[in-house]
Amino acid sequence: MKQKRFSTITKKIILYIVLADIILCSIVFATSYFSFNRQFREQYDSSIQEICSAAREFLNPDDFANYRLTCEKDQAYENVNKMLQNIVDRFDLNMIYVSAVDAPDYTHIFYFYDPTGKNFKYKPYPLGHEEDYRQKDYNASTKRVFEEGATIVRHTFKTRSGSHITAQLPVYDSNGKIVAVIGAQKSIQQFVNARRAFVRFVIITALIFAAGFVILFTGYFDIRFIKPILLITNETNRFATYNGEPSEKLLSIKNRDELGTLANSVYQMEAAISNSIDVLTRITTETAEALASAIDAKDKYTHGHSTRVAEYSKKIARMAGKNEKECRDIFLAALLHDVGKIGVPNNIINKQGKLTDKEYEVIQTHPVIGRQILANITQTPHISDGAFYHHERYDGSGYPKGLTGNEIPDIGRIIAVADAYDAMTSKRSYRDPLPQDVVRSEIEKGLGSQFDPEYGKIMLQLIDEDKDYKMCEKPEI
Ligand SMILES: [Fe+2]
Repeated sequence: MKQKRFSTITKKIILYIVLADIILCSIVFATSYFSFNRQFREQYDSSIQEICSAAREFLNPDDFANYRLTCEKDQAYENVNKMLQNIVDRFDLNMIYVSAVDAPDYTHIFYFYDPTGKNFKYKPYPLGHEEDYRQKDYNASTKRVFEEGATIVRHTFKTRSGSHITAQLPVYDSNGKIVAVIGAQKSIQQFVNARRAFVRFVIITALIFAAGFVILFTGYFDIRFIKPILLITNETNRFATYNGEPSEKLLSIKNRDELGTLANSVYQMEAAISNSIDVLTRITTETAEALASAIDAKDKYTHGHSTRVAEYSKKIARMAGKNEKECRDIFLAALLHDVGKIGVPNNIINKQGKLTDKEYEVIQTHPVIGRQILANITQTPHISDGAFYHHERYDGSGYPKGLTGNEIPDIGRIIAVADAYDAMTSKRSYRDPLPQDVVRSEIEKGLGSQFDPEYGKIMLQLIDEDKDYKMCEKPEI
């Protein structure tokens, strides 16, 4: 049996490992990704807290009302602006702003520093810009700080210049009331790039490890387990179709584990079964031989006829390429081909001289009787075919059915040649065995008429190989 490169089990194992790898890689990826993000968030929170602390130090929340009234670029404004500028530089921010709260609904841009100059919206109102924070498009983070009292609100967003994060924190006065919000915005493009590189690294590393693991594990699994299992499977399949031919030791498993034990058990089981089959075959053959002797004993001129026909039939079958089991079946069928003669009276079988038509009709019933006798042997149904068809002739002039050519079962055509050969090479009451060349020419003459041409030619070949004419009835000593 041709062995496939990958067995079904190996394919399943590969599939399971790949699935397990995908799950494992996903877990590793998700864990790394979230841990990376959390680390960034923690760093950012700590830096924003630092920013706000720095801003708070400079601002006096209780004086917010006064600050708000100072809407001119005086020294105080310049000082605040400078402080914000320092914070921006120190923390590498995009911008920073402080919004004061106008009760109840308005915010007031108190300080605003935008080194990029891109946030044009507030540019004309560096101080004193007022806006209703309840507006639909108003900064949602600021709203949350005002309305929900969130201690820190951050969100990320993308612009053409990359990804950014903003964070906003409340500023409380001495009464614990929110009087302002400090907001800071920072580019996180570097972080996004680093995260992308990290994710790529994790995925590639995980894939390399996963592929390596799949190859190594399945390779090991294949050699260690699958190959021995396939060997055992092939061996049991081969033995399941055991046809009596000698078995080669196909299985070679040196494992000292359960698979090795299983392989040895398979061999022991095969040996035990083969032995039992051999014993049964021997008993069957010996029984058939005993029966054949009983049949031959009815006719004083056909001593050993059944055994010789069986031997010749087996030789023809083997040369025709039949396997060992078929040869054995043909041998048994040939041994019993004349068993129907049991039902023919002795006086007809042993009659000296010519048979009457009536007597000949009785003789011709022996194939039918033979089949009836052997019909009960259901384990080897072809045995009765030998008895029933061995008097059929290739041209259709035989009996009991008058079948032609390949309508006659193989077994009948083989025994017919062997039977005729033995009849000619055996002694009769009225003659000695015919000379070998006469027998040969009779067989040759019968090719395609009395005999199947293929099996007839094989018989001719056997005759030609029998230089000393040993294939004949031996004279009694
Ligand atoms: Fe016969």
